[in-house]
Amino acid sequence: MAEITVNLPQGAYGIHIMPGAIQRIGQLMRNLGMQGMALVVSDENVGALYGAAVLHSLTECGCKAELICVPPGEGSKSLGVAMELYTKAVTMGLDRRSPVIALGGGVVGDLAGFVAATYLRGVPFIQIPTTLLAMVDSSVGGKVAVNHELGKNLIGAFYQPRLVVADLDVLSTLPERELIAGLAEVIKYGAIHDTDFFNYLNRNCAALMKKEEGVLTEVISRCCRSKAWVVEQDEKENNLRMILNFGHTIGHAIEAETDYTGYRHGEAVAVGMYAASLISRELGLCTSQTVEAMREIIQRFSLPLTARECSPERLMTFLKRDKKSVDNVVQWVLIQAPGEVVIERGVNEAVLRSVLEQIT
Ligand SMILES: NC(=O)c1ccc[n+]([C@@H]2O[C@H](COP(=O)([O-])OP(=O)(O)OC[C@H]3O[C@@H](n4cnc5c(N)ncnc54)[C@H](O)[C@@H]3O)[C@@H](O)[C@H]2O)c1
Ligand SMILES: [Zn+2]
Repeated sequence: MAEITVNLPQGAYGIHIMPGAIQRIGQLMRNLGMQGMALVVSDENVGALYGAAVLHSLTECGCKAELICVPPGEGSKSLGVAMELYTKAVTMGLDRRSPVIALGGGVVGDLAGFVAATYLRGVPFIQIPTTLLAMVDSSVGGKVAVNHELGKNLIGAFYQPRLVVADLDVLSTLPERELIAGLAEVIKYGAIHDTDFFNYLNRNCAALMKKEEGVLTEVISRCCRSKAWVVEQDEKENNLRMILNFGHTIGHAIEAETDYTGYRHGEAVAVGMYAASLISRELGLCTSQTVEAMREIIQRFSLPLTARECSPERLMTFLKRDKKSVDNVVQWVLIQAPGEVVIERGVNEAVLRSVLEQIT
């Protein structure tokens, strides 16, 4: 079991990592002085598996809670589905002190968080992440959003949860592909600022793939500590937080080019991290040894290095539209060695093109 605190100017919140944590959600909320009503948002897969346990724990602690399940998948991160949740909140009489609880992966977390941030100008928000990706990344840090038909996450806010509860037991039902996709974000933390963790992952790959409890606890807490450390210094992504986008520039382009159906987010990020290491070598920022280290770890965790169905030209078009660009110049997170990255404004187009050809 591990507990991590995220300290921000508007208040601190705890991340509780342990098996069986779902059964303690009511108690953990009561410790924060939250009682009364609560709206639990989940998707149909996760709600069917864990909805009853969460409701039971809440009811036992005197909370009047209701569960609403949205269809699984990215399509639920929409203003239309958010509207259904607002309607549910109004009809059940949810007031400003009643929390919205996200029970699910990043989709549910982003959607429920967006509703919590905007309903009655903000109600308490609680995250119960159920995918590895949500445990190590999306449930911590306070980015919440829904998609616009012209782009992902275009409508959103920075809105921090009051509590994050990661129950390791729920990972037993997580499909293997989802686990592996989450591991790409785990590798990212090692690559961007923790050489020791990078080496730890290489040594513990088999245990991690088998979801061994001790290794999972260590990995999830180290990732959460890393993310908390970054977010505490730069909550609104003015500078340092950009390093979390390592692998994401090309990763997002791959996701967009394949209509968000070809690759899981983490898989696209894995290709993006490898591509970023190739760019870094071309620019003389790192040696071939670093490229090899990235290639090895990505392959060790059964993640892809290439996106063969994408075309360099199409990827290039998406890269030019990158949401994170400043004055139309893409901010690249490049690697010097495992554990060390730098931010570069813009990359020479010929270099980029040659790398895109290698990964497609
Ligand atoms: N806010 C952030 O900082 C942030 C960061 C990264 C990603 N995201 C967002 O996260 C989303 C992706 O999240 P995700 O990868 O968790 O996918 P997801 O929420 O779509 O979940 C993946 C699938 O696994 C199922 N599932 C979830 N937990 C399960 C469990 N314990 N057992 C069985 N099935 C389970 C879900 O029903 C779904 O079908 C994207 O929309 C992305 O934009 C947000
Ligand atoms: Zn990501």
